[in-house]
Amino acid sequence: MKSVLIRKIKSLAGIRETGVCLVRGAEMKTLHSIENAFLLIENGVIKNFGRNDDAPERADEVIDATGKFVLPAWCDSHTHIVYAGSRESEFVDKINGLSYEEIAARGGGILNSAKRLAETSEEELFESAWQRLEGMRSNGTGAVEIKSGYGLSYEGELKMLRVIRKLKEKSSLTIKATFLGAHAYPAQFKTNHEGYLKILLEELLPIIADEGLADFIDVFCEENYFSAAETDRILEAGVKHGLQPKVHVNQFNILGGVGVSVKHNALSVDHLEHISDEDIVALKTVVGLPTNNMTMPVALPGCSLFLKIPYTPARKIIDAGLPLALATDFNPGSAPSGNMNLVNSLACINMSMTPEEVINASTLNGAYAMNVEEELGSITLGKKANLIITKPVSSLAMLPYSFGDNPVARTIIG
Ligand code: NIG
Ligand code: FE
Repeated sequence: MKSVLIRKIKSLAGIRETGVCLVRGAEMKTLHSIENAFLLIENGVIKNFGRNDDAPERADEVIDATGKFVLPAWCDSHTHIVYAGSRESEFVDKINGLSYEEIAARGGGILNSAKRLAETSEEELFESAWQRLEGMRSNGTGAVEIKSGYGLSYEGELKMLRVIRKLKEKSSLTIKATFLGAHAYPAQFKTNHEGYLKILLEELLPIIADEGLADFIDVFCEENYFSAAETDRILEAGVKHGLQPKVHVNQFNILGGVGVSVKHNALSVDHLEHISDEDIVALKTVVGLPTNNMTMPVALPGCSLFLKIPYTPARKIIDAGLPLALATDFNPGSAPSGNMNLVNSLACINMSMTPEEVINASTLNGAYAMNVEEELGSITLGKKANLIITKPVSSLAMLPYSFGDNPVARTIIG
């Protein structure tokens, strides 16, 4: 048995009672904390915490956290970190005036990444994703959801999912896998949607389910990608194979994907740069049921920054009594960064979220959006000790205030 004592913590923040699975509405403004605190880890689990005066005398390892905050590590519930190459030439195209849609129409975008992925070995994909994960860890991330979706063929999608499985096995971070075969129609299926849907639904889904290669199913529900009706079919098939939906919706256009996702009991609806009153109503209809039945809205402000598209209207969502999670969307096309600290700053600056709200959104609500809220996302007895120890900071607001800095001194994983 190994014990680690963190003592003299300036503020231990993000404390929740056992069983609280998400935070929503006005509650999001509260981050429960203890000033001048200790926290004891035993065998990787939060064993005890409280006022520093009550700290145990000894432990196998003692960490002095004078002047520092201790928080739950970030749970990044939406990423695409398995990819080949990079797309900085599209970045330059964008600077020169082309839009995301125009770049995609010229064979750039997701199809560009799919072409490169087909030419890259599993080993190389693993290695580059591993480096990204390590970078994310040093920025305070302790759990990551990773999507397929640059394979776009039977072989390519399985290749990506096998890489994610290996990351799960080898990394100490908590990882969840999402099947996003419905990310874009490959060029040869542009006018033959049925042909591609057949590969996804009849060939890939059964083997993915059999081999346990994915935890969730995702669809990019968007004009020129997958319609609401196609999304409906894909989610239904995914659910039949035991995969809960987490869906890309309303990034550029509102197609009705939120309602479809809620109908299939989606775990999350992500992007929401645009959101209608009906969407809010659809998300609220589950309020009143046990909160662990809710669909979590997830905002991706790094994508809004990078593509210069609107930010998700967080106030409209939270002030309607809903929860909200934040994630990076780390991917080569629309958000080439896995930095949750920057995401938090962007949400404060551009979405009028308070520092307490962004921390709730990036910890417990992020954990919920990847179905790990029972083991991660808050300072709770018995949860896994995935923690951030910050650099010395004057107050909590200092974390999102210092945008572009890394306020994390150390990320503890278990
Ligand atoms: O979440 N919107 C769809 N998928 C990604 C972008 C993927 C890409 O451009 O490679 C996203 O933004
Ligand atoms: Fe995404």
